[in-house]
Amino acid sequence: MTAHAVLAATTTAPEQGAAGRLIAIASGKGGVGKTWLAITLSHALAQRGRNVLLVDGDLGLANVDVQIGLQVGRDLSGLLKGERAEALATPVPDAGFSVLAGRSGSGALAQLTPEQIEVILAGLAEAKGFGTVILDIGAGLDRTARRLASVADTLLVVTTEEPTALTDAYACLKLAALDRPGGDRRIVVNMAGTQASGERTWLGLRKAAENFLKVSPPLAGVVRRDARVSEAIRRQVPFLTRHPGAEAASDIGRLAAILAP
Ligand SMILES: Nc1ncnc2c1ncn2[C@@H]1O[C@H](COP(=O)(O)OP(=O)(O)OP(=O)(O)O)[C@@H](O)[C@H]1O
Ligand SMILES: [Mg+2]
Repeated sequence: MTAHAVLAATTTAPEQGAAGRLIAIASGKGGVGKTWLAITLSHALAQRGRNVLLVDGDLGLANVDVQIGLQVGRDLSGLLKGERAEALATPVPDAGFSVLAGRSGSGALAQLTPEQIEVILAGLAEAKGFGTVILDIGAGLDRTARRLASVADTLLVVTTEEPTALTDAYACLKLAALDRPGGDRRIVVNMAGTQASGERTWLGLRKAAENFLKVSPPLAGVVRRDARVSEAIRRQVPFLTRHPGAEAASDIGRLAAILAP
């Protein structure tokens, strides 16, 4: 059986619908494509009819808005004043989802106390009533990143095929297993040479996790390396708008179909 067949068999089991769900995206290592993936997955889920709120949880270095050239008026700091996430979100034109920005020049999000993080998390939990919340978590494994990851209904741990990304993805899995034993955590291999090489990368990571962490994270999906990704980011246009027929677009479409059958 191929890894995809195994995956299809395991994900048709009582799969939680994507509505009322918080899907967080983390990696440990920087630059593996978390933000691009968060944006493109949000877009693909919206195309599947889901109500999606994309939250920029990279609090120090928020840049979801920059990747897609979105002018944001408000940001997450409004949650600290008791405002609702829906009221703070900015719709992405012609893409069917909204962004709750991680900064809008207010500067209020650079240094948050643990208590303030909890207020933000309460706001995001409430936003799940809106549909699917996608949370882009910044690089690193600091206290804030760990806390954000721990509230996810599904945590997508993103890696590339490089050993440095794999060690950080492993560290991410290890901390997640400590912080929330038994949680739903799945692997995304981004910038893969081919589907097959991406699946081999996942198998290696899963083996290490099984041997040393006693967890067996399934594959959520492989996204192939595609030069059009950086071209779309340079032009600040959502990838699925600019290159709907690209290989990486169909890979994200498959990932969205698994998460929101
Ligand atoms: N599938 C892909 N194919 C080719 N290039 C990609 C792919 N995914 C991401 N990239 C490239 O990787 C770069 C980094 O992406 P992105 O900013 O989304 O990563 P990140 O993990 O969010 O980084 P950070 O940790 O700094 O927040 C992008 O500028 C893009 O050019
Ligand atoms: Mg990022």
